[in-house]
Amino acid sequence: MSRPITRREAIATAAALGVSLAWASRTPRGSQTSWQQRAEYYPQGVASGDPTSDGVILWTRRPPVGDSSASSLAVEISDDAQFHRIVSKTRAPVSPNTDWTCRVLVAGLLPGREYWYRFSDEHGFGSRIGRTLTAPARTDARPARFAFVSCQNMQLGACNAYRRMIVDDERRNPAERLGFVLHLGDFVYEIVWYPEDRPQGYYSRRIRDIVRYASGEKHADFHVPTTVDDYRSLYRAYLLDPDLQDARARWPFVCMQDNHEFSWKGWQSQENFGDTQPAQTRKVAANQAWFEYQPARVARVGGKVTAPFRAPPVSNAPLGRFDAHGLGIDPDNLAAIDSLQFYRSMHWGANIDLILTDNRSYRSEPLTTRPEALAFQPNGFPAVVSEDVTEILDAGKEFNGRNPPATITFNGEARPNPRRDAPPLSMLGARQKKWFLEQLRSAKATWKLWGNSVAMLDWRIDFQNLPTDLDARWPTSGYGLLGDDDWSGYRHERAEIFRFVREQGITGFATVCGDRHSFLAGLLSPTLPPKRFEPIGVEFVTGSISAPGIAEAMEYNLPPTHPLRSLYVYQPPDNARPQAAINLSILRGVRASLELQRTHDLQQALTLSNKDVAPQLSFADVGGHGFAVVTAAPAALDVEFVCIPRPIERATQADGGPVSYRVAFRVPRWSKGEAPQMTRSVVEGELPLVP
Ligand SMILES: [Fe+2]
Repeated sequence: MSRPITRREAIATAAALGVSLAWASRTPRGSQTSWQQRAEYYPQGVASGDPTSDGVILWTRRPPVGDSSASSLAVEISDDAQFHRIVSKTRAPVSPNTDWTCRVLVAGLLPGREYWYRFSDEHGFGSRIGRTLTAPARTDARPARFAFVSCQNMQLGACNAYRRMIVDDERRNPAERLGFVLHLGDFVYEIVWYPEDRPQGYYSRRIRDIVRYASGEKHADFHVPTTVDDYRSLYRAYLLDPDLQDARARWPFVCMQDNHEFSWKGWQSQENFGDTQPAQTRKVAANQAWFEYQPARVARVGGKVTAPFRAPPVSNAPLGRFDAHGLGIDPDNLAAIDSLQFYRSMHWGANIDLILTDNRSYRSEPLTTRPEALAFQPNGFPAVVSEDVTEILDAGKEFNGRNPPATITFNGEARPNPRRDAPPLSMLGARQKKWFLEQLRSAKATWKLWGNSVAMLDWRIDFQNLPTDLDARWPTSGYGLLGDDDWSGYRHERAEIFRFVREQGITGFATVCGDRHSFLAGLLSPTLPPKRFEPIGVEFVTGSISAPGIAEAMEYNLPPTHPLRSLYVYQPPDNARPQAAINLSILRGVRASLELQRTHDLQQALTLSNKDVAPQLSFADVGGHGFAVVTAAPAALDVEFVCIPRPIERATQADGGPVSYRVAFRVPRWSKGEAPQMTRSVVEGELPLVP
């Protein structure tokens, strides 16, 4: 759409999104409000989100503080930082119905511009000043740049990554600065440890006492929220972080939820803390808090959201009936997940079409929590499943051209295939998948970017090549696969999407992901050796902002006597700091990692590389934290991973502390019929056991 939005359309959009409207004027004026900054009355700062070429949503929270309260806020948007040229202003209500949060849609702005905004209450007490940006016009082919992030656990770590991102951006020349920050989920972690529950801390981390749930529920040694007020208290606590606040005040954010915005092992409206339990009321509560705290263009499915969010009445009834994609069709489940539709798309100039999917609300139950998959857990092999078995269980009755095996050989024993008659698993669900494929097919930008909260690249370990003298017996003749909770466990649908990309001749297909708490980059192929390797797109996975990853977990969880420890953790001589051998196992195979531990000689270890384990991967660092920066231009897609040291404490340096490494990837634009290619170069620092 190149025609500017009309005022009438803007009014309809604001109503559909449940926000107040500020319409921009072409004749800027000076400010007429008595704004006087009193940031203490806006403890969660300000934010903006979901920019288009003509508008953006602005956000703040103005709760009662002491005996000072407000019932409405004036919002001013200016095209200069001094607020001499106000292009739009309006008033918007605040009340306890939305936990004192305030969302305003500004429409009628100009494309590719920088704007400033601020809120003030009836007393003239003002918020801090925020900066935001509108998307370039669809015809604007200048290179576009953004950052993507995921997984910030404020209880266990610090947001040094945001500080580094801000400092890097300030140093860029203005034309090369980031346009927005894409947040791929785990913006909050709903499972919370109270410090007294774990006096020993968590791995290398100290537990911060940031939130106590008024109505929480305790499982094992952690607590989970049960009401909308519990979920709200989580956002209130997280948004006190000064680095996150400064990032939200500097760039518009584009946010997609992942699992922890609702429930750790949640799927649809169900939770699992040992077994699957209906949690429709919690799903609605989680959605309501997300709606209130994230400035995003989201609404209830099939209708309008009116401010405040209208929570549908639901009860926690177990799921009984499913469609052919594993979606529970009981009314309470549908009402809960349809209370907010997260999936949506956006455009950023001529180079970026961004499609965001919700990978949690419609997915069929993952293999990880299915009781029938338990018999196929490789005991003694940490954090992995069998690739071969996952293929069979995921595809169900569709396996092998609708010819699934009656039994699966595991540990030398033929076991009945429990999913021989079951439909294949689905990550997206039927309705979202139809929408997604249509978005992909009709995308016109050079780069079709998929904001994909969970990753697709397989990360395998060739356990079938373990020496026989090790005290560990791998149960199949194929590869081990890390995790089966992401696309690596929804392989049938993944293959269907890749087939669609190939058949439609879609080029410039790239997925950007979070969730794995690891940096990975590589080429997407429907199958890997010993089957064919035929890339159809590329993928970049960002390390977490702060949440611990597998490398850290293994360092603390695997005792020195564990027979497989050296495949996960390399212990250099003289008690030096352990390193992530798992990177080497994923990229070059188990024999390389064992040889490294034996000889302490990386070059010697690499002579035992298995070239078949990871032809798809250009990079894998399971121990890294930080963020990724994408530059999308007509000729190439460039992505840089910025890795920082484990963010155990907030950096004392003004620049957010040191950078461990920067590694850059280039993907030249490819044409229909060509395969994508990726090159890698180290910009700064040293890579951690990544050959
Ligand atoms: Fe996470």
